[in-house]
Amino acid sequence: MANYRKEGDIAVITLKNPPVNALSHAVRSSIDHCLTRAQNDNDVSAVVLCGDGGVFCAGADIKEFSKNQHRLVPTIRDNVRQLEASDKPVVAAIAGIALGGGLEIALGCHYRIGNVNARIGFPEVLIGILPAAAGTQRLPRVAGVANSLDLILSGRHASARQALKMGILDKVVPGDVVEAAIDYAKSVAYKPVSLRRVSEMPVKGVEKADILFQEARKNTMKKSRGAIAPMNCLRAIEAAVNSPNYEEGLKKESELGNLLGTGNQAPAMSYAFFAERTAQKWELPGGKATYKSTKPLPVKTAAVIGCGTMGTGITISLITSNIPVVLLEADKKLLERGLKFIQQVFARNVKQRRMKADAAKKLISLVTPTLDYQQIKDVDLVIEAVFENMKLKKEIFAKLDAVCKPSAILCSNTSSLNIDEMASATKRPDKVVGTHFFAPAHLMKLLENIRGKDTSPETIATVMTLGKTIKKVPVLVGNCHGFVGNRMMFQYTSEASFLIEEGCLPEEVDRVLEDFGFPLGPLKVSDLSGLDVGWRIRQSQGITGEKVPAGTPLRYRQGQRYCPIPDMLCEQGHFGQKTGKGYYKYERPGAFQAMNDPDIKDMIVAYCRDHNIERRKIPYQEILERSLYCMINEGFKILEDGIATRMEDIDTIWLYGYAWPRHTGGPMYYATKMVGLPKVYERVCHYASAHPDIMHWQPSDLLKKMALQEAATSHL
Ligand code: COA
Repeated sequence: MANYRKEGDIAVITLKNPPVNALSHAVRSSIDHCLTRAQNDNDVSAVVLCGDGGVFCAGADIKEFSKNQHRLVPTIRDNVRQLEASDKPVVAAIAGIALGGGLEIALGCHYRIGNVNARIGFPEVLIGILPAAAGTQRLPRVAGVANSLDLILSGRHASARQALKMGILDKVVPGDVVEAAIDYAKSVAYKPVSLRRVSEMPVKGVEKADILFQEARKNTMKKSRGAIAPMNCLRAIEAAVNSPNYEEGLKKESELGNLLGTGNQAPAMSYAFFAERTAQKWELPGGKATYKSTKPLPVKTAAVIGCGTMGTGITISLITSNIPVVLLEADKKLLERGLKFIQQVFARNVKQRRMKADAAKKLISLVTPTLDYQQIKDVDLVIEAVFENMKLKKEIFAKLDAVCKPSAILCSNTSSLNIDEMASATKRPDKVVGTHFFAPAHLMKLLENIRGKDTSPETIATVMTLGKTIKKVPVLVGNCHGFVGNRMMFQYTSEASFLIEEGCLPEEVDRVLEDFGFPLGPLKVSDLSGLDVGWRIRQSQGITGEKVPAGTPLRYRQGQRYCPIPDMLCEQGHFGQKTGKGYYKYERPGAFQAMNDPDIKDMIVAYCRDHNIERRKIPYQEILERSLYCMINEGFKILEDGIATRMEDIDTIWLYGYAWPRHTGGPMYYATKMVGLPKVYERVCHYASAHPDIMHWQPSDLLKKMALQEAATSHL
């Protein structure tokens, strides 16, 4: 778990716990033994601590948290203490990453050398905890208050060069960092370590601390939306400044860390970490093929069809990962506009110093714009991203099938349409697959990949691997209307309109969901996505508009209750943000800030009066339950239907595609672990009997089965 060897009079301790050298109990114990051995060996003058496999250490072993094994001694804090107490200098040799506990043990060492490609950081806040092995007390002593707030509150990784500038690393080297550390250890072997003990250093940057804390508190309150870890991280850093000494600061760090460790947010966030990784290990129902058994095809070149918001975003994602793209559009003006947008995105990245100008230029040059289908005949993979119209998509798929080489994979970026129907327009249904990106596609991490009935495992493996290559979070789902994400979203937004019809105002519904932790409530999201999108789909399906047969009741469609308010808004030009009016009003078309609109209130109230709907004050808890449980019930139906194979897949989709608050794990985790299925099932049944004309309240059989099982076992 940690190897011990000697290079002359330098002891080299190598952490060995593949793939990321996480600090399991066995590793921590090994560090303890190896250090004691080095201390007791009179021939050893200094120590180098490094990691095996080109990785220093990814921190605590997150798998130990649920079993409480991270508390077994020696803890990471004990390792840090022992490293620092050594009277022989200890040099950390950081290759790859030093994250969380990994960085804490590096801060326990007397010197730190990093490879130029190394990254360091404190990602604890992202899993609902704080750097509790003295990280919040030690980092401010080497890097100052401002850098500590930056790193610990964001959880971001800093490059080796940034870490050097911050004072965290003492030296950055281009080549073998272990060799460099051994040389360095030799040079400091007989120097006293007392001045290098971080716990004995004063905190840096205390002069401006008050202002920094004030600012950080304001930002954290705004951004954390119910997550408690960010504020506790902040308080722990404050303790480094305000405590009379290091030990008192440590006590405060423990107190704040324990609060997080015993709460329910940290387990939810650890679950989310592993759910994301589980989702990538795809398998077909019945285990017919898996990520392990299937080899992906290489994707060296790609084409994107359609130059709208989605097409350009997808193109940016591909070229950013160095995949050349032929961008095809039917309309020359749209093609030029799309190219301009791509250039603007890269120009902004350069301006914000996220990229060098020549690198941006090189990436833009990977786009070949064209109006000619012949230009895409040799690409390995095509992503169709035209608007949601089946007839048009089928025409395109037939054309692609005729033009592209036989091995090419044909993908559709549809957000809800039937993949099998598109595949039927080709002679290669095994190579047709859905790749549903989320807007803006160059920024949003989720990639919902949809398998059709004939999609081959090889095609699936290719798009799942492509997702990882372009730094998305790919999740495999089955084919049905709306797939997983939007199928649940449909229930969530339709319930929001029922709530409005029964007595809520848009801002009342949104506030409850924003309090729950969503950045925007469902009606603000509708305004952002454009109310006209759903309206056009409903028109094409004959649910609203001219195709609706005369005499159809206003509030009843396709055998269930229907709320016409979204249609009424669209008929009045309220398409959302883009028109400056939707459920809310906006300063101008395209503005982001939603303002409550008294005209909307009047419209809703007048509609209810005209249709004899008695409005009532709907309690907060009812708004929350109805909004969340209708989609959770749908999630169980999705599992029942085999559209998703695991709860983790559904949760990952909602975390990355719909900004579900991470500190509650995702809709399925929230229902299962935080609320409890018997309660969720009881409330779903309650709303089903209160609203027998709303089909999404019909309880899922799987939910019922699992709820009854849980209730039975809890009575044992
Ligand atoms: N504890 C336990 N397992 C860990 C881990 C940790 N701290 N960090 C990573 N792993 C596991 C992953 O679950 C994955 O396991 P799998 O192959 O069985 O799915 C494997 O290591 C590789 O991780 P992955 O994330 O797929 O690789 P990557 O190269 O994309 O990213 C890291 C590597 C280290 C950057 C990333 O895993 C990470 O951020 N880890 C969390 C670090 C952290 O939060 N540390 C603080 C803990 S207090």
